[in-house]
Amino acid sequence: MKYVPLTEALHSYICETFPAEDEFLCRLKTEADEAGLPPIHIAPEQIAFLQVLMRSVGARRVLEIGTLAGYSAIAIARALPNDGRLLTLERNPLHAEFALRKIREAALEHVIEVRTGSAKELLGEIREEPFDAVFIDADKAGYGTYLQKALPLLRLGGLVIGDNTLAWGNIADATTEDKTVQALRRFNTAMSAHPQLQSCLVPIAEGMTIGVKIR
Ligand code: SAH
Ligand code: DHB
Ligand code: MG
Repeated sequence: MKYVPLTEALHSYICETFPAEDEFLCRLKTEADEAGLPPIHIAPEQIAFLQVLMRSVGARRVLEIGTLAGYSAIAIARALPNDGRLLTLERNPLHAEFALRKIREAALEHVIEVRTGSAKELLGEIREEPFDAVFIDADKAGYGTYLQKALPLLRLGGLVIGDNTLAWGNIADATTEDKTVQALRRFNTAMSAHPQLQSCLVPIAEGMTIGVKIR
């Protein structure tokens, strides 16, 4: 087998050599902890990865499903051009309010719009021009539906990105009774088999599955 298992030393090397989390985002996580939000933001090395992805497709319009404290939204927004826009959907009003406060602090309120409500409903109401990328990071049971609803909103050559697709190391367990793992397994299969997508799974952090819309 041709792969290098990730060690602490390798992980530190990657984060130190390609630093992406600045003091603002570091403090955002501390404040989110203090406010009682769950510490389930993307990992720092995923910032660099998402920013490279955004720039490589020339992303101007991005859709995020699952805002939490605004950590990934602010990270993505930083890789967009001046006229870029990020629409992020969040069910929990406390999370949405916290994120909005940090977005204002970051002076990104002209770039990032937070819509509060169930992603399934909000996705049906989107009338914006097509998106260049969609980042799916909300409830794992919803990933299949989010993929279905987001794909028509994506331009040709645009990216669908799903987080946590290694399911905390349990993704290969075909006999799992865990509903979250089952949902992520179905999502990966759907991404792989979808006729409109070319996809792969990148073993970064807790796993990211990425598809390009090819037709
Ligand atoms: N993308 C964020 C982390 C998101 S955590 C980051 O990396 O910084 C997942 C978020 O999805 C939580 O805030 C949760 O409240 C929200 N969420 C869960 N189910 C949802 C739903 N059905 N619709 C919208 N948001 C949902
Ligand atoms: C959970 C959700 C996430 O999106 C994540 O990155 C980590 C954990 C969770 O629901 O436990
Ligand atoms: Mg996640």
